[in-house]
Amino acid sequence: MRAKILALLREREDYVSGQELCECFGVSRTAVWKAIGQLKKEGYCIEAVQNRGYRLTAKREVYGQHELESRMKTGWAGRPLSFYGELGSTNLQAKLDAENGAKEGALIVADMQTAGRGRRGRMWSSPPGTNVYFTLVLKPDYRVELASMITLVMGLAVAEGIHETCGLEARIKWPNDIVVNGKKVCGMLAEMSTERDFIHYVVMGVGINVAKQEFPPEIAQTAACLEGECGHEVSRAEIIVNVMRAFEDRYDIFRKDGNLAGLLDRYNGMLAGKDGEVRVLDPKGEYQGISRGINSTGELLVERENGAVETVYAGEVSVRGIYGYV
Ligand code: BTN
Repeated sequence: MRAKILALLREREDYVSGQELCECFGVSRTAVWKAIGQLKKEGYCIEAVQNRGYRLTAKREVYGQHELESRMKTGWAGRPLSFYGELGSTNLQAKLDAENGAKEGALIVADMQTAGRGRRGRMWSSPPGTNVYFTLVLKPDYRVELASMITLVMGLAVAEGIHETCGLEARIKWPNDIVVNGKKVCGMLAEMSTERDFIHYVVMGVGINVAKQEFPPEIAQTAACLEGECGHEVSRAEIIVNVMRAFEDRYDIFRKDGNLAGLLDRYNGMLAGKDGEVRVLDPKGEYQGISRGINSTGELLVERENGAVETVYAGEVSVRGIYGYV
């Protein structure tokens, strides 16, 4: 109920009477009064005036369960949402939840992680009060081969969510990263549990660098944060809400089509380095070519000097722009 009260106060911007809140949520005046007291304790500034009611006086974000729940605009993605002040890893928690019956769309968010996981066994630096760390639980009922495309759908949603939240031209560095001005602002880590052809679950973890921070030396040259790039404060809650909304929309299209055909134009329009030179670090032999975007099954098409077009599978190789990280 706290999230619902918050949503109503935020939407109304004026006083909402205790009576209206009682009727709206079918609860007693005492229950409303208690909920308001708890919200104040969480840090919300709510003014109570006799004969007028309650009003949210400051729009300050209190990053947590109720802020996120009260802003979520989706049908299924990000519902239910579990917020933790501190976790080892949201991916790990999401796996536990998925094994214990969490449904498709369940979202785990943490303010900080003590054992944030990156790809290739690396750690993901996850200080408190600074960045976005979340993992979405999915329970796909389609073929295992399609699961690798989930990361691409999330990549598109993150790039769109970042653009919507702070206006930055976010680009997708196929297949796992999001970059702004050539630097990495987001990494994604999908993990999956399968049995033969059956997918038990996929957990889709996303880390987005938001506030200014000192990055570990090994990534200092290639990492950036949203606030550093756009020069103003960015709401972590708003990013999550916008990413969830974009994801739900794009994922429903992907699921209906059974491939990425319906998302190709958007994806390729946000692809970093498209129509530029890339170097494919294939263990069977490196080569250079022009990136021509992805196809409907999510592979990157690279045109070689002789005109032949190679289909590059994610996971097998790395792709680099020839002038640096992107
Ligand atoms: C990468 O190496 O680029 C992937 C980083 C993924 C980090 C996110 S933060 C939220 C989720 N929980 C984790 O432990 N990792 C992912």
